[in-house]
Amino acid sequence: MTDTFNPDLLAGKVAFVAGASSGINLRVAQRYAAAGAKVMVISRSEDKIAAAARTITDAGHDAIGMACDVRDYAKVVEAFAHCRDQFGEIDIVLSGAAGNFLAPAIGMSANAFKTVIDIDLLGTFNVLHASFQHLRKPGASLVSITAGQAVRPMMYQVHACAAKAGVNQITKCLAMEWGPAGIRVNAVSPGPIGDTEGMARLAPNDDYAKASKARIPLRDWGTKDDIGDACLWLASDAARYVSGAIINVDGGSELGDAGGDALTVPER
Ligand code: COA
Ligand code: NAP
Repeated sequence: MTDTFNPDLLAGKVAFVAGASSGINLRVAQRYAAAGAKVMVISRSEDKIAAAARTITDAGHDAIGMACDVRDYAKVVEAFAHCRDQFGEIDIVLSGAAGNFLAPAIGMSANAFKTVIDIDLLGTFNVLHASFQHLRKPGASLVSITAGQAVRPMMYQVHACAAKAGVNQITKCLAMEWGPAGIRVNAVSPGPIGDTEGMARLAPNDDYAKASKARIPLRDWGTKDDIGDACLWLASDAARYVSGAIINVDGGSELGDAGGDALTVPER
């Protein structure tokens, strides 16, 4: 965790981060806290989320954690009420809980498909919907974590592709409906991010990782800090006129395969 960003950027603000016991979302929560926000983090595992909250309080910032499955709307409502009670009106919501695995469509049970839809898509709806009554209005910023699968079909990812496509549409629909209340709704679409559970599942070995990097215009995977910085900007007043946007933080991945001879740079 690097604490180099403006420590006052989110001073006085309250942030709620869903799916924050590990990986990208935990880094976002840490970024928000380092920038001055009070942060509530949730995920399914009581132990993991308590440990995640401790990484923030141990760094000298304000945080609380609660076990909460985003598929359970009543529990999500309870979590927001607790956040409001502890910290006051909520300025920033990050919805990033997700599940994924590689599986061919024909080898995937209906319940396997539904499980990912329920976590990623229904979970995002639950979190954003339940947040509404507790948001500071105007001025609140909602950010969901989507993925390139939302727009680029991918083998063995029919569940994640369908779920994240829905997350993009939730982002745009709520930006339209809630904009008049002064609420901004955006999403960040990470490319492959190193040192994450997501890429451990999708890129099972070094050869795959090397080939993957060779196809990306910027020729590398991103870092959790890259996503943290984008989410920090979207949550801040520096993005006050940004809503309904899907921000790619992906080294250009969404543009397509930039492998092969594309590496040749003409001499000047
Ligand atoms: N291939 C095919 N089917 C799979 C699978 C795989 N690799 N992993 C799970 N499933 C199926 C299960 O068999 C089950 O279907 P069934 O009832 O027809 O047998 C269904 O998916 C639900 O599995 P279950 O383990 O009960 O779900 P869960 O709610 O406990 O866990 C997961 C959700 C499956 C997404 C789990 O991988 C998880 O907790 N992931 C969170 C971390 C993560 O994915 N990080 C990356 C984020 S991008
Ligand atoms: P991760 O570490 O596994 O993060 C997923 C988080 O979601 C965990 O904290 C997990 O905690 C939580 N979670 C899972 N199911 C939940 C549920 N039902 N209710 C509440 N919380 C739940 O994975 P990651 O790779 O960092 O991914 C984070 C986000 O980035 C995801 O939205 C993913 O789709 C997106 N993304 C990742 C990449 C990448 O390269 N890694 C690329 C594009 C997009 P518990 O187990 O404690 O519940």
